Amino acid sequence: MRITLSVIKADTGGFVGHTDVHPEMIDVAIERMRVAIGTGLIVDAHVSRCGDDLALIMTHGLGADSPAIHGLAWEVFQATTAVAKRLGLYGAGQDLLSDAFSGNLRGMGPGYAEIDLEERVSEPIVVFLADKTEPGAFNYPLARMFADPFTTAGLVIDPKLHAGFTFEVLDLREHRSIRLSTPEEWYDLLMLIGSPHRFVIKEIRSRALGIVAAATSTTRLSLIAGRYVGKDDPVMAVRCQSGLPAVGEILEPFALPHLVSGWMRGSHAGPLMPVGYADATPSRFDGPPRIVALGFQLHEGRLIGPRDLFADKGFDRSRAVALELADHLRRMGPFEPHRLGLDELEYTTMPELMKRLEPRWSAEREKAEVAAR
Ligand code: F6R
Ligand code: MG
Ligand code: MG
Repeated sequence: MRITLSVIKADTGGFVGHTDVHPEMIDVAIERMRVAIGTGLIVDAHVSRCGDDLALIMTHGLGADSPAIHGLAWEVFQATTAVAKRLGLYGAGQDLLSDAFSGNLRGMGPGYAEIDLEERVSEPIVVFLADKTEPGAFNYPLARMFADPFTTAGLVIDPKLHAGFTFEVLDLREHRSIRLSTPEEWYDLLMLIGSPHRFVIKEIRSRALGIVAAATSTTRLSLIAGRYVGKDDPVMAVRCQSGLPAVGEILEPFALPHLVSGWMRGSHAGPLMPVGYADATPSRFDGPPRIVALGFQLHEGRLIGPRDLFADKGFDRSRAVALELADHLRRMGPFEPHRLGLDELEYTTMPELMKRLEPRWSAEREKAEVAAR
């Protein structure tokens, strides 16, 4: 069966501040999804959230980039924005950058990750939702899942995994993309994706199976809006098992809470803490950045699940390390590398303050003395 999995998310208002989505917004989204299933527009749906981002996980037969599906998501986000406005929630409609929908969500604010697939006999999929970080945050775990044999034992043991994967990487600054295949081009891949602010993994394909194994959302709101409108809290979908990394291999990279950009005001480095759904409510310093993993068995287009995969005790230590790191970094206050480097703050309100100081700068003292002689 051919089916498309669309994971579409937006921050349409926070409860309280930027920490969570109000239950009424979730209810409205669930109701809209129920109607869309009833009319046959979509096959199935699950509504979720991570922090202040609402996520619609949908299956349908219309392919990626479908105007009908993107339009449906847009309508749902308009409806949840209306709830946010009615309740006076914070930043109502924050990610909806335009008043009118123009056929596709590209450049309009919401983020989306989509996979067109031919359903396998059994189709386990993990949907990841993150808050207080940016799309490049997935570079590190994806590289480890699909190319690091110290993480994914199957790369060494399973002939289908042994053939490696092809990574599509976007250059967000130059608006171009490149495909690199591992294991041969592993070093080239790392050279690029080690700079997650600029280079972002968009899609991963299995070389042996010829199928898409993973897709991420890659919207960068600051690059669209030219100003700070929050980080683009990303989502991704990863297919698992039978020649792809196992569910456990896909979760394994999160045993180390790697440092990502985002957190308070989208301007700080912090650990990405894997949490169960109930704990996906970043509050300390608006964080630390968080990620949930929702496991589904996709069957005849139906989303059987989710299983709350990071709720597992196996990630307790990762959470403890994340909190330790959070304490350490927080003590640095406004100093880099806790606060992000200047180029990452380009679209925040900080350059405005720098401008105010502009007329007050004078030549370096030594230079001025030489000139005066
Ligand atoms: C980060 C985020 C929050 C806000 C912060 C300030 O992505 O959304 O950390 O940046 O709460 O928000 P404002 O400027 O709206 O008061
Ligand atoms: Mg927000
Ligand atoms: Mg958010």
